[in-house]
Amino acid sequence: MSNLFVANWKMNMMRDEARAYASELGSEIGDGIPGAELVVAPPFTTLDHARDSRERWAIGGQNVSEHAAGAFTGEISSMMLADAGCRYAIVGHSERRTLFGEDGPMLSRKLARCREARLVPIYCVGESAAERARGLTTVVLAAQVETLADDPPNDPLVVAYEPVWAIGTGVAATPADAASAAACLRGLLVTRSDIRILYGGSVNPGNAAELLVQGGVDGFLVGGASLNAKTFAAIARAGPA
Ligand code: PGA
Repeated sequence: MSNLFVANWKMNMMRDEARAYASELGSEIGDGIPGAELVVAPPFTTLDHARDSRERWAIGGQNVSEHAAGAFTGEISSMMLADAGCRYAIVGHSERRTLFGEDGPMLSRKLARCREARLVPIYCVGESAAERARGLTTVVLAAQVETLADDPPNDPLVVAYEPVWAIGTGVAATPADAASAAACLRGLLVTRSDIRILYGGSVNPGNAAELLVQGGVDGFLVGGASLNAKTFAAIARAGPA
């Protein structure tokens, strides 16, 4: 399976910027990067503008409602994302967990909505600095993986290990940290038939190759460094062709 590189724009980019990014990313990658599958997860308002007419990258939602449809002002459903051309949806990013109070039961409903719409969830897990300091990383990962208990084991799944202390801080995990978390997750998810484990947290073109190879992951979820098309393409080129 090819490696997966996901650009999480978070709450950035106006429509003109999204269009310009798409055109720049297209010229950067030409006919595509061998061995790499790319996903761009833009804000909902730029889903159309970030799309590639040649489908060299897929589009993903950054979030999805736990509800299917109805009177939920401000929410975006999984069916709406699919209708807008999304193939993926990020579920349980640490910013959603900590800033918006998303917990395990809510995230398991979001995963179920993704499956109804045939969206592949990019399910985010990772410990905080305090949890890490107390040696709780594997305990936290195991608890967060519990949320996947009802998720169909043969459906494609992406799990992103994103230690909270590495997100947006400029301090990435070491390849050894990433490797031990990835091994832990593979062990916890051994019954899954189609799974990719990503790393996320301060990935940049300078640390990508080492994190990918020594970290034993199948790609990256990239925040800040994904806002520049050239930089994102450079990260996606880090893998072996
Ligand atoms: P970062 O964010 O690359 O800016 O650290 C990663 C993420 O939040 O997905």
